[in-house]
Amino acid sequence: MAKQAEPETDPQTAALAFAGLTIEGMLRGRYDDQDGRDIFAKVHGFKLPEQARAVRLYPFFQPLDRNDGPVAKIYGREVIMLGSNNYLGLTRHPRVVQAAQDALSEHGTSLTGSRLLNGTTHLHEKLENRIAEFLGTEAAVVFTTGYQTNLGVISSLVDSRSVAIVDKADHASIYDACRLAEGEMLRFRHNDAQHLDTILRRLDKKKTCLVVIDGVFSMGGDIADLPAIVEVCQRHQVRLLIDDAHAIGAIGTGGRGTASHFGMDGKVDLTVGTFSKSFASVGGFVAGSRSVLEWIKHFGRSMVFSASLPPASAAAALASLEVLIEEPELVEAVQRHGETLRSGLNEMGFDTGESQTSIIPVTIGDELATVTFWRDLIECGVYTNPVIFPAVAIGKALLRTSCMATHKDEQIEFVLEQFQTLGRKHGLLP
Ligand SMILES: Cc1ncc(COP(=O)(O)O)c(C=O)c1O
Repeated sequence: MAKQAEPETDPQTAALAFAGLTIEGMLRGRYDDQDGRDIFAKVHGFKLPEQARAVRLYPFFQPLDRNDGPVAKIYGREVIMLGSNNYLGLTRHPRVVQAAQDALSEHGTSLTGSRLLNGTTHLHEKLENRIAEFLGTEAAVVFTTGYQTNLGVISSLVDSRSVAIVDKADHASIYDACRLAEGEMLRFRHNDAQHLDTILRRLDKKKTCLVVIDGVFSMGGDIADLPAIVEVCQRHQVRLLIDDAHAIGAIGTGGRGTASHFGMDGKVDLTVGTFSKSFASVGGFVAGSRSVLEWIKHFGRSMVFSASLPPASAAAALASLEVLIEEPELVEAVQRHGETLRSGLNEMGFDTGESQTSIIPVTIGDELATVTFWRDLIECGVYTNPVIFPAVAIGKALLRTSCMATHKDEQIEFVLEQFQTLGRKHGLLP
């Protein structure tokens, strides 16, 4: 980590700075007791990132020198990339790169307008048709990001006489979508279909309702209990949206996601996905019935009031989908690496929670210990993502790891060796 500042503070001050960064610093109320009308007043006291940087413990916004898929370069050092969402490892696939380059030459850098007006090309429509075919739905609609997909879909459906009922562990974009929506939001306990049932039984019968779940949970790597949730939704005659951002390309037949994983194709009303993970691009989509998508296309604010997905990104996503269809063995490869990594970490004694996929959280607990472990792993050639409060509860900090289809067996073995050596050094393992 040559480019980070050398430590200027003793370890105790470092610990205090770090605790401040993660706990008090994020509880913004600390700065809210100032008088006056200057909205910037709160920012002047926000010195915690600077303090953490000074003790080489600031884990965010670290620039990569290169990112080639399974291997990246940071601070001039090669690292095994174990902290991306590039599950199929397609960001450097020759066909994907070529497709993006061709689209760039043909269409230029941007369409500079929303899908509704001047921002749709035949490429966008082709991508939508291929996604619908892949998932076996009537239609699909492409948005500019996965985040915007949830915003547009949920806020256009959940009106003032509706309720969105979401899993507590759903992605932030789903929560933000519910804030934008006019209707109410209720939450059920993570992956607990019985609790969902209880909420639905109590719900005013005049309210329309959308249940929203993640298929694969982005931090825990666990899979939604879809059979139980579908049963409850059908019994209460409410619609179900599944956000399969981390499931498509990773689970199900040929990477078709959570419904396919459970043999329940066609049992979900709407499927949201993103191109920023298995599809090696950016962008998002929703797949479902034509009439519902027609509504979303015209009333989804993030569709109507934001510029469309650049053609090069659409082309990269389309080429990635074609590669996935032709090479379903990529899905087996990412699952196999996930299994090797998870069982290896578990055998050593690390806590990988409820993970069932190639997303594997390693819970360390203490925030400072987690970031120190993250830093030492990079120095040993392994890149992971530290996840601290407020993304997880205080004292439940973890390193999020994830595999790629294009990792080599030796790279996963190397990673496991580093976890073992450092785990012992940090007193996390016997
Ligand atoms: C479950 C889930 N949904 C939606 C998104 C947003 O996707 P994007 O990064 O494409 O905006 C993410 C991003 O991490 C996610 O994990």
